[in-house]
Amino acid sequence: MRAIVYTSTGGSEVLNLVEREEAHAGPGQVRVRIHVSGVNPTDWKRRAAQTAPATGGGADGSDAPAIVPNQDGAGVVDEVGDGVEGLAVGDRVWVFLAQHESDDGTAQEVAVVEAWKAVKLPDGVSFDVGASLGVPAMTAHRALTVHEDGPRRLAPGSLDGRTVLVTGGAGAVGHAAIQLARWAGATVITTISSDAKAALATDAGAHFAIDYTQGDPAAAIRELAPDGVDIVVDVDFIRNVGLVAAVVATRGSVAIYANSGSDIRIPIREWMGLNARLQFVLLYTVGDEALRAGVEDVTAAAAAGALEVGDATGLPLTRFSLADTAAAHDAVEGGVVGKVLIDVTAS
Ligand SMILES: NC(=O)c1ccc[n+]([C@@H]2O[C@H](COP(=O)([O-])OP(=O)(O)OC[C@H]3O[C@@H](n4cnc5c(N)ncnc54)[C@H](OP(=O)(O)O)[C@@H]3O)[C@@H](O)[C@H]2O)c1
Repeated sequence: MRAIVYTSTGGSEVLNLVEREEAHAGPGQVRVRIHVSGVNPTDWKRRAAQTAPATGGGADGSDAPAIVPNQDGAGVVDEVGDGVEGLAVGDRVWVFLAQHESDDGTAQEVAVVEAWKAVKLPDGVSFDVGASLGVPAMTAHRALTVHEDGPRRLAPGSLDGRTVLVTGGAGAVGHAAIQLARWAGATVITTISSDAKAALATDAGAHFAIDYTQGDPAAAIRELAPDGVDIVVDVDFIRNVGLVAAVVATRGSVAIYANSGSDIRIPIREWMGLNARLQFVLLYTVGDEALRAGVEDVTAAAAAGALEVGDATGLPLTRFSLADTAAAHDAVEGGVVGKVLIDVTAS
């Protein structure tokens, strides 16, 4: 079978298409014939050794094991290991965190994953949606469920009466956050940087899109939410700290899932006065309970048609063949708008 591998970290040129033996599902594992692999910033960052390698080695660009990139994917179970319950050969599944604590990502025709990371795709939910759920929707789920007053779980009505601010509403995580928040009943405000991105965010379901590069975005948000926003899903707290402080409600919560640098100065007195909660979010370390809650709620939202992808719902798709995985990584690193998918079986 064909797989993309890298044996030393670096630029996308380290990615090579190879023929490999198909591995078998061990106890507690399933083997998935991958149809679509989803690409996220974490995939190129890990390949470039900007974040820790999966199993050690390689951070110095030298002695990495053969690693198959990409955390997310969707496909069909074709082998079930001992002790696995609830999955059978032929089940359509979405796969998340395939490359976490593993070298076996989804940029290959057949991936062996821990069974709980392969989740049945509801009838009618496409592989494109399935391959877009993992990192973006699971991160968004965590970000929307860390408010001190809950909810801990998302479902229709769980965010009724709440106002959510999603900064970066045309991003992949922002898109999923808008969709999940709308599905759960929130009023959703988002910030974007252009009219074109405003259209994407409103197509995703945002009630209001504010251009954060123009005028006084904090005043515009305050006008929409005079009592402040309850939950902020934030893509760049280093740059947004002032805006967020100006619009977050007293006892509101801010979920910080990305960084444009490493250091930040936070005016403590102002934030203390808000009694606000700053919650950092990193999908890799949220813990099993949060992951399992995310899996159930994200799957339910997908089944309800609330997590669609593509032009009509504000997340344009850019597709690559498996052989062009390096170009897919470059597209994500270059900030392509929307979702980058790799057609694994069709390429
Ligand atoms: N912590 C985690 O577990 C986790 C999970 C997933 C992703 N991430 C990280 O989150 C980041 C985004 O991921 P993604 O897949 O959503 O990327 P993406 O699709 O490229 O989206 C990023 C979006 O953020 C917008 N943006 C940047 N700075 C902004 C600001 N100050 N205010 C408002 N919007 C801003 C960008 O548009 P404009 O620049 O035009 O505004 C873009 O639309 C990446 O750094 C990724 O590594 C972290």
